Amino acid sequence: FAPRHLLSIADLTPAELTTLVRNASSHKTAIKSGSVPKSLLGSLSGKTVAMMFNKRSTRTRVSTEAAVATMGGHAMFLGKDDIQLGVNESLYDTSLIISSMTSCMVARVGPHSDVADLAKHSSVPVINALSNDYHPLQTTADFLTIHEAFPSSSRSLGSTPGLGLEGLKIAWVGDSNNVLFDLAIGALKLGVNISVASPKGFTISPSMLEIIQSSTAGVSSPGKLTQTHVPEEAIKDADILVTDTWVSMGQEAEKVERMKAFAGYQITNELAKRGGAKEGWKFMHCLPRHPEEVADEVFYGPRSLVFQEGENRLWAAISALEAFVVNKGKII
Ligand code: CP
Ligand code: NVA
Repeated sequence: FAPRHLLSIADLTPAELTTLVRNASSHKTAIKSGSVPKSLLGSLSGKTVAMMFNKRSTRTRVSTEAAVATMGGHAMFLGKDDIQLGVNESLYDTSLIISSMTSCMVARVGPHSDVADLAKHSSVPVINALSNDYHPLQTTADFLTIHEAFPSSSRSLGSTPGLGLEGLKIAWVGDSNNVLFDLAIGALKLGVNISVASPKGFTISPSMLEIIQSSTAGVSSPGKLTQTHVPEEAIKDADILVTDTWVSMGQEAEKVERMKAFAGYQITNELAKRGGAKEGWKFMHCLPRHPEEVADEVFYGPRSLVFQEGENRLWAAISALEAFVVNKGKII
């Protein structure tokens, strides 16, 4: 039996991503109204989920541990000083050993090849908890948040039982990073347009662009991705403005250079107005946040979805564990 892994949103069909988000949404409703669905109750009983984190984390760690607890399992947090992840032992050996004792590995790493190597040799599902290239749990929570903020009834829709997000426009203003890459893949799969504004030298690499574009193969009406260096151009007619840190974990040595390069990219109400965002525009950020990439007036303002988005990490984690561990990769 070869386990199915969740390394990137590219691993999912549009229907699977939709189901993952819909399941997260219905679990959220049920659990918040006081009842854990029967299908989840004790579904990880007697099972251990190894959480192998080479980098710090608030949301991913807490949401995963809380999700495993909700489902009756045991989450074993293994920080970078706890195990020999990529240090003093090969990923091959680590993967064979940990997967022989647990039911799932949730791994946060630097190079994406590290989590891909763990998955390649693992006898249990591996879920990417953030690599330098992708953040699928974040993207799942983000589409749940967008689904909640833009109920499909408010736009004219076809009859497909999707999330009803077709035609929305996301403007990403800032660094071309891991969070953007999976968000863009998800957007194109769901028929959402995404426009990216980043400074020269910080645009999406040609190889990543190829991966993002090719993830729409077979998708009937994919969204469109556009790139610019001008924030206002990306923002024009956007429904959702999104950004992330300008200095991702592992890039600390580039901080001074990055601060200079990103000057003028801070999301403010003025920028949104100047750029011509849609009247009802909303703001999203995966967090952790720094004031340079978004002003307080936006981050803490009425258009901000950031804390709802953060909470949705829990529901996304439950949905992913259900699909990949309980249902063995069947997203139903
Ligand atoms: N958004 C997110 O992944 O946050 P953490 O780094 O705190 O897990
Ligand atoms: N781009 C950020 C995301 C953190 C959740 C990083 O990689 O540090």
